[in-house]
Amino acid sequence: MNEFYDLEAIICREAFFGEGYGSVGGEEASKILAGYLRPRKDGGHLNVLDVGAGLGGFSFFIARIDEPMVKLAQNRLASSDVAEKVKLQVCNVETAEFPAESFDAMVWRASLVHIPVSKKESVLKRTMKWLKPGGQFISMDLCLANRAEDLQGFQEYLDFMGIECVDIESYKKMLEAVGLKEIFAKEDNAFYLRKTVEELASAEKAKSEVKKCVSERTYQTQAEYWLNKSKWVEAGAICNAYFVAHK
Ligand SMILES: C[S@@+](CC[C@H](N)C(=O)[O-])C[C@H]1O[C@@H](n2cnc3c(N)ncnc32)[C@H](O)[C@@H]1O
Repeated sequence: MNEFYDLEAIICREAFFGEGYGSVGGEEASKILAGYLRPRKDGGHLNVLDVGAGLGGFSFFIARIDEPMVKLAQNRLASSDVAEKVKLQVCNVETAEFPAESFDAMVWRASLVHIPVSKKESVLKRTMKWLKPGGQFISMDLCLANRAEDLQGFQEYLDFMGIECVDIESYKKMLEAVGLKEIFAKEDNAFYLRKTVEELASAEKAKSEVKKCVSERTYQTQAEYWLNKSKWVEAGAICNAYFVAHK
């Protein structure tokens, strides 16, 4: 991992996106993704794999909403009660192993974009065996948009960031190829751009607090990185999209 993942950069991104988050949308994006999760028919707890969980914001979020009693009482509950429901494991999804058919749902939030295009399908395929039959697949990811090939400097930007995207149609085909069914895809740039503006503005307001743990250089690098990303979205090179499907 590059300096994008050093501790200072991570603290800085949390200041932008909220505690537990390293990507645009923070808790509001978690609400959208969690809204796609179907409860289990038997009323039991969902076992969810949050691939590339980062600081675990989404995992903590769904652990809180998974059980109505916990939701009602969450203000009184110590965070350790939620922590008991979340297991964070450092591993590479390309080599990790989990028991077969052990997850009700698998969520990829801004993480498949970090897997090279040449490997995305095979990596996804190896993870499919961990999903129960009928289990859900939910993803929020950056995809290529229709102007990607025309825009000067865009490929250099992707190379610099170490991310590789495919367009929404190719993403859907890839999900189909690994055996997912009833694939729903939705582009949502409006959400992405609104959240980037809001999150950077709120970090700017709290800048003096953030600067206690983060250098000026890290703050500026991170702020420019996320602003740049939204400029590529506005220019039509990339788009933010959700994908929901089941095994
Ligand atoms: C942009 S962050 C998103 C973090 C989190 N999902 C969120 O939305 O706040 C991308 C995450 O993907 C993880 N990641 C990248 N490649 C991975 C791999 N091969 N296996 C597991 N995780 C990976 C990174 O470590 C990082 O936590």
